[in-house]
Amino acid sequence: MRSTKDGKYAVRLDAVSKEYRSGKNTVRALDAVTAGFLSGTFTAVMGPSGSGKSTFLNCAAGLDQPTAGRVVLGDVDLSTRSETELTELRRDRIGFVFQAYNLLGSLTVAENVTLPLRLADRKADGAFLREVLGAVGLAEHLDRRPGELSGGQQQRVAIARALINHPDVVVADEPTGALDTRSSRQVLELLRRVVDELGQTVLMVTHDPVAASYADSVVFLADGRLAGELARPAPEQVAARMTHLGEW
Ligand SMILES: Nc1ncnc2c1ncn2[C@@H]1O[C@H](COP(=O)(O)OP(=O)(O)O)[C@@H](O)[C@H]1O
Ligand SMILES: [Mg+2]
Repeated sequence: MRSTKDGKYAVRLDAVSKEYRSGKNTVRALDAVTAGFLSGTFTAVMGPSGSGKSTFLNCAAGLDQPTAGRVVLGDVDLSTRSETELTELRRDRIGFVFQAYNLLGSLTVAENVTLPLRLADRKADGAFLREVLGAVGLAEHLDRRPGELSGGQQQRVAIARALINHPDVVVADEPTGALDTRSSRQVLELLRRVVDELGQTVLMVTHDPVAASYADSVVFLADGRLAGELARPAPEQVAARMTHLGEW
C-alpha cells in the first residue's frame, strides 16, 4: 500500500463497501475500504473474527460484488463487467487458495494443477509446469492422487494450481488454517518464494502472527474498516496489534 509512483497496482479497492442482507437485518461487512496492492508484493490481511477479512479478499478477487465502490484488477474496473466476464477474469487472472484444498480426488497431482488450463482451453507450457511443480516440491508426486498426500502437500498442489495461469494476483484465505506447524512453514516459505522468484502478487488472510510475518506488510481490519498497516511485520508486533484490536 504505497504511492502509485512506486510501481503498478495488481489490485486496488476504492471505497469498497459490502452489505449483506439477512431478513430485516443488514450487516456491513466492509465499510468504505480503500487499499492498493503493488505487483510483486506479499500482503497479509488480519483482524478479529467477523472483521471482514474474507469479504475483503472475495471482493478483491471478484468473487463478491461490492455494494458500493470499485475494485480495479490491473487496469480492469470489475464494476463494469458482467457476471460472465467476471467468471472469465477469475479463471484467467486470479489464483485461489483456500483452507480446504479443494482438489479433485479422482485426478492426479499433475491433472489437478493443469485443470485451470483445461477449463480455459489452453495448453500447458511444459517448461513452466515443471518449474511450478519443482518450486512447490511436487516433481516426484505427479501421478499421485490427493488422498495419498499429506495436508501440506495437498496445499502445495493447490498453490501450484493457483499459479499455473500466471494470475495477476493469488488470493489465499487462511491457507495454513488446517496445517500443523511444520507444513504451515513449508506453505508459507513457498508463498514467499512465489513472490520473490516468480514475481507473483499474493494476498493472504491469516489469524496467525507468525504466518503474517512472512508477508511484506500486514493490513488490519476491524469492524469492516481498515485499522492500520504494518511493514516488515515481526510476529510480536503483529500479535500486539491484534491484542489491541481485541482479538485475544
Ligand atoms: N454471505 C453472507 N451473508 C450474510 N452475512 C455475511 C456473509 N458473509 C459474511 N457475512 C458477515 O459479514 C461479516 C464479515 O464476515 P467475514 O468477511 O467472513 O469476516 P472474517 O473473514 O474476518 O471472519 C460478519 O459479520 C459475517 O457474519
Ligand atoms: Mg474469514
